[in-house]
Amino acid sequence: MADDNLGARPPRALPQVPRWQSLRNSLKLAADPLGALGAIHARYGDTARLYIGGVQPSVLTRDPGLVQHVLQKNHRNYAKSAFTLGFARYIGHGLLTNEGPDWLRQRRLIQPGFHRQRVAGLTGLMQEIVAETLAPLAQQAAASGGAVAVPAHALMTRLTFRIIARSVFSTSFAEAELDRLAQLITEIQAFYIGTIRQPYFNFWRRLRGRFRRADARTAELRALLGRYIAQRQAASAAPRAPAPPDDLLQMLLDARYEDTGEPMAPARVLDEALILLVAGHETSANALTWLLYLLAHHPAEARLIQAETAAALGARGPAFADLPRLGRALCAVQETMRLYPPAWMVDRVALADDDYQGLRIPKGTLFSLFLYGLHRDAQHWDAPAEFRPARFAPDAPRPLVPFAYAPFGGGPRLCVGLQFALTEMQLVAVELLRTFDVEWPEGQPPVVEQPLITLRPRGDFQVRLRLRPA
Ligand code: HEM
Repeated sequence: MADDNLGARPPRALPQVPRWQSLRNSLKLAADPLGALGAIHARYGDTARLYIGGVQPSVLTRDPGLVQHVLQKNHRNYAKSAFTLGFARYIGHGLLTNEGPDWLRQRRLIQPGFHRQRVAGLTGLMQEIVAETLAPLAQQAAASGGAVAVPAHALMTRLTFRIIARSVFSTSFAEAELDRLAQLITEIQAFYIGTIRQPYFNFWRRLRGRFRRADARTAELRALLGRYIAQRQAASAAPRAPAPPDDLLQMLLDARYEDTGEPMAPARVLDEALILLVAGHETSANALTWLLYLLAHHPAEARLIQAETAAALGARGPAFADLPRLGRALCAVQETMRLYPPAWMVDRVALADDDYQGLRIPKGTLFSLFLYGLHRDAQHWDAPAEFRPARFAPDAPRPLVPFAYAPFGGGPRLCVGLQFALTEMQLVAVELLRTFDVEWPEGQPPVVEQPLITLRPRGDFQVRLRLRPA
């Protein structure tokens, strides 16, 4: 499908970052991808051709119309890149790494499992885990003069991993197993990114048995999850079995294909459960880490959230039904993801020749949809570098252009966990600020963004959590 606006427009050539410059840029790109890509936009405009690493031809864009074209209007012509699909070797063929009719069939099956009501049902569990995580910190703070310094990213990663693991598998896993699961997923991801970013070391990696070791980790991960899935199935099949837990694993096991009425094969259940663990914690962990960073630097915004929460709830904690009245926390979360979109870059490959407003897109074009650049573009946002949650207030004027804000992607492959993630992050923000003020301990090195698969801070930073008066 060509773009609707094409009309009689003559074909237009895209600015091309010369290959020599791409090569020279590749070092900068490795050291500071966000700065280097921003500089390309500043010099060449919203859309430009370049060679990633001086080798791979690619189209970089922060044009919301083109992002919408690729993700939504002509999505059928755009598949995920080899980079994403290659990840399936390690994390299986779940929704995130699947393509074509098979993806669509799985998506139709799984999507209803994420509707509002089920997410509402998981809120209690989310709150329990937040409370379990914050209670020891409150004790430590009380024992040490009222405040405790914590590593923000480590804390949020632990919290969100526990939330997604227990949302999928309820209480099946012992603490030690949860830690092992998280460690295996982190190690596998780090290895895979290395093979893509520095492919010239792959020969050496192979020689040193690194690929074999990554495969062994994948096998351990799958065996761990497979055991629990088999146990759950056996428990449900037992005579007079108690009602199974109402978690996402049970949703996957109970789902039936519309056409055949059959359930998913066990290996597929495993693939989908694993994808939920992988896709469902690092993104939220990074967004919450950046939220802590921003709140520590903008205490007035934190106070607004605290005042709204106190007015709506008094001393009690929030239930799912309260969330619409706690909009300031949600605005802060949304604004955080504008400034620091966890999925900072989304990629796609053109399956056939296409055009967009006179721009010829040959088959095989690799698109880098630069969400970070899109979200900070002064063409769509006033004072784009500033943290202003009020932009997301219901009565605030929105950017006029669709897809100027797309932290969850868009079109048919929009994040299936969107509702889950927003609920989780809003709850964490509310609960954390009910208990603590968030402060910035002076003397830390500047925080630098590290865009890996997701956008995280390089290393970690500390925030000081100060107990609020009861
Ligand atoms: C702040 C949190 C999150 C952000 C920013 C985020 C972002 C995204 C984005 C941008 C995509 C689309 C990728 C593409 O088009 O190539 C996506 C897909 C996906 N996300 Fe999320 N996500 C978040 C949380 C979650 C959670 C909590 C879950 C699971 C409970 C989840 C599960 C998935 C899955 C399974 C897909 C693939 C969907 C498909 O292709 O059909 N995500 N996410």
